Amino acid sequence: MRLFTNKAFTLSLVGLAATATVAMAASHSQKGLEDAVKARHAQMQMVGYHTGMLGAIAKGEAEFDAQIVSAAAANLAALATMERATLWIEGSEQGAVEGSRAKAEIWSDPDGFAAKFGDLEKAALAFEGAADAAAVGAAMGALGGSCKGCHETYRGPKN
Ligand code: HEC
Repeated sequence: MRLFTNKAFTLSLVGLAATATVAMAASHSQKGLEDAVKARHAQMQMVGYHTGMLGAIAKGEAEFDAQIVSAAAANLAALATMERATLWIEGSEQGAVEGSRAKAEIWSDPDGFAAKFGDLEKAALAFEGAADAAAVGAAMGALGGSCKGCHETYRGPKN
């Protein structure tokens, strides 16, 4: 009798595990993965947009505007600290989803990847309080370095 109860318990556990597997598979459908790639491309496009604005000021192509510099810095920091769970979903690496250039290292080394976003945040915050175009220019190097530092390790070759 005791044996039977244990067996029934074991069977129900197996059933639960199977349900959980199906639920997980459903939340990571191919469509879901494709959407995540599109969404994080939008995140990166926004990073590029704000970097471009700061770069134009640094090069004298756009007029220095303290409010714009401060807003660009704040938005870059916000983009760098976005929760990664919805955007960088495991299984959406290059080769698995069309258009993705995300390397598998993003998921095998999550702390390293997070640290690179930390570098971006730090570089962005360095623009806060920049008083002129020269100060913006002085902060550009670290910002560009933070892109390169992550892309070199975590972004794959062109598709
Ligand atoms: C923490 C890592 C990381 C940092 C920091 C980072 N990127 Fe990226 N970026 C990536 C990865 C990974 C991809 C490829 C994502 C994919 O294709 O799924 C990417 C893709 C891009 C893309 C292409 C987006 C598209 O539409 O395909 C642009 C543009 C870009 N990054 C700009 C930047 C700029 C500019 C910076 C620095 C100011 C930067 N990134 C900093 C990881 C990073």
